[in-house]
Amino acid sequence: MRILKKHIPEITQTWRSKYGESYNEGLNFLVSAEEVVPTNLNLLIEQIMKGKPIQQLIGKWSFYNGDYFLNSDVLIPRPETECLVECIKLSNNKFKKILDMGTGSGCIAIELSKIFPKANVYGSDLSDIALLLARKNNLQTTNKVNFFKSDWFENIEGRFDLLVSNPPYIEKTKPKNRDLKFEPEVALFSEEKGLRDIRIIIMNGREYLTKNGWLFIEHGYNQSDAVASTFKKSGYQQIRHGLDLQGVRRFTYAKR
Ligand SMILES: C[S@@+](CC[C@H](N)C(=O)[O-])C[C@H]1O[C@@H](n2cnc3c(N)ncnc32)[C@H](O)[C@@H]1O
Repeated sequence: MRILKKHIPEITQTWRSKYGESYNEGLNFLVSAEEVVPTNLNLLIEQIMKGKPIQQLIGKWSFYNGDYFLNSDVLIPRPETECLVECIKLSNNKFKKILDMGTGSGCIAIELSKIFPKANVYGSDLSDIALLLARKNNLQTTNKVNFFKSDWFENIEGRFDLLVSNPPYIEKTKPKNRDLKFEPEVALFSEEKGLRDIRIIIMNGREYLTKNGWLFIEHGYNQSDAVASTFKKSGYQQIRHGLDLQGVRRFTYAKR
């Protein structure tokens, strides 16, 4: 539905009854959105009351230098992932063949295709519905990303000079955080204290990297030591950490 002036008082009242004055930024985004996903005002009010994230109410959110269609089938792109993309940009490598594993909305792959316009960029995911959305988001670039289905390395062939992933890394046994209940479990949780998918990617990744290739991987705020140790055990060189906006180690990268 389109948000009209006459809808604003009821939206504001509902928002305030849900969040008080603590989240006015979200309200501002909502009332200034031209269009929202719910098809009528009652539905919108109901979804605000249920706590649906603003990004899913609007159905679109900005990430790095792009706007991304979103729904409940994909992770909402996060600021720490923008830091990861920025770090890859600043690494001063001229990557020519790039694969983003667990691409979700396609945000990492598509932004990298803009940063490295001469590169062949690929994005893979286990989820068919995520891939549909990634392909829709892909229409914003001229240097098209090739999206395809793969359970991590299952359908991957050849070598890449950049592998990147923001895999699921939240500990499975943790009760689901209220903030995460609107996002798909497959995008969030991993066994082995959240490290299982990260380990699969690091341990198998070297085989898919060119001689000077790099693997960049995002992880939880308390996983940097475990991730670095997996890189080390797997034989990678030049292991480095990257920081989020709070200065916390949130991704780790290394050379083959
Ligand atoms: C944390 S989300 C990241 C999404 C997106 N790259 C981003 O940064 O916003 C993890 C993604 O990994 C995908 N995934 C989970 N298990 C997978 C597997 N075994 N093989 C491939 N992709 C997987 C999920 O479908 C989800 O899209």
